[in-house]
Amino acid sequence: MSQDVSALIEKDAKYVLHPASSIPALIENGPQMIVSAKGCHITDADGNELLDAVAGLWCVNAGYGRPELAEAMKTSAEQLGYYHSFANASNPWQVELAEKLIAHAPDGLSKVFFGSSGSDCNDTLIKIAWHYHSLQGNTSKIKIIARDQAYHGTSISTASLTGLPGFHKDFPIPLDFVLRTDCPHYYSHGLPDETEEEFCDRLINNVAELIEKEGADNIAAFFAEPVMGAGGIIVPPEDYYPKLKRLLTRYNILLIADEVICGFGRLGAWFGSPQLGLEPDMMATAKGITSGYFPMSAAFISESIWDVLKIGSEKIGAFMHGYTYSGHPVGAAVALANINIIEKENLVSQAAANGQYLHEQLQSLMNLPSVGEIRGQGLIAGIQLVSDKHSKELHDASLKIPLKVANLVKEKGVIVRPLPTVGTLAISPPLTISKSEIDTLVQALTDSISSLG
Ligand SMILES: Cc1ncc(COP(=O)(O)O)c(C=O)c1O
Repeated sequence: MSQDVSALIEKDAKYVLHPASSIPALIENGPQMIVSAKGCHITDADGNELLDAVAGLWCVNAGYGRPELAEAMKTSAEQLGYYHSFANASNPWQVELAEKLIAHAPDGLSKVFFGSSGSDCNDTLIKIAWHYHSLQGNTSKIKIIARDQAYHGTSISTASLTGLPGFHKDFPIPLDFVLRTDCPHYYSHGLPDETEEEFCDRLINNVAELIEKEGADNIAAFFAEPVMGAGGIIVPPEDYYPKLKRLLTRYNILLIADEVICGFGRLGAWFGSPQLGLEPDMMATAKGITSGYFPMSAAFISESIWDVLKIGSEKIGAFMHGYTYSGHPVGAAVALANINIIEKENLVSQAAANGQYLHEQLQSLMNLPSVGEIRGQGLIAGIQLVSDKHSKELHDASLKIPLKVANLVKEKGVIVRPLPTVGTLAISPPLTISKSEIDTLVQALTDSISSLG
């Protein structure tokens, strides 16, 4: 970095509006200036090296500083820096990428649509769900069911699906096409004396009642992250998705898996849906598709949805949706190189093995009075912080305990993500994390959480 760091920090506050950031905090503390990264470590402008146990924003699956990805970017940019995909234009990289993605996709998904972010991907899938039903004469099938604590993005439509009220505050959202249902977290939302199976049945029954109340003729789709990420790393009860799917199929409501975090190895499988018994009609992916090195998303659809779109296009003309950067040659080249790394280095099975090790090690935190639950699967984990283990009561929000603990962990050289509204610390490291790095992470957590008493 050639520029003087303090000048950069001053200019940041002067010119940059940061996403999901407090402006007074920026003015008071300045930005966290990250200047380089390698493997699982990032380096800030003061030369501090930190173990990034969140992989950026749950996305750097192959780890930082991969020369193969830089090379793919350079080579493709030199050959074809840009061309669009409108009006059936294409490029070699997106074709190769689509074939590879479908080879790894859950059964039944057979076509992909490319975009640049998780939000635009979910937005695309909302529109395809509407279009699919409308083409079959079901023009009133508009409403979309999403869950409390869901995170599906921050565009106007996807922030509406997002079930975290902080993302709605002082915006005229959620839009009224969204129907809200329960978050499938047994620990937090199970009733006293209710078994996990009874909890699951109650939630499915609530979805059934919602459908009856709103009318199946008015409902297009149900959005679900296989394991919820930003809402607290929530793995639903075992039978939840099979029961949900049976219900939705009965009412011709599409099940859309948002695998923006879960995809590309995070849960110790290529995609989370098959692992959790979720059979998606469509699926959103982004983040890990390029390990975050290039903004890229892929929306997957089933053959039967494609068939309806095809007949629709024959009747009414072109499928009128797309983005300037859909199928970007450089993004597709990076995604291909990234998936080659995941394949060659067996990062999916490594995530399964090291994920198991991570969860075994994290169990020791359950001995601490402030830890109520450890949850997750593969290389994603949530640590539930509580003020009272028996009542499961969270700390008073004004105490900002998750943030304070994350700051203590950072002082020990490790980054974890506080999820304040659910009193949880999130962990989602690169899939390349080693056992000794996991040990460092767990030690930093143990020392920091212990200090809460
Ligand atoms: C499950 C899920 N869906 C969608 C998104 C939105 O992705 P983006 O920020 O790329 O728009 C995210 C981002 O964290 C996510 O976690």
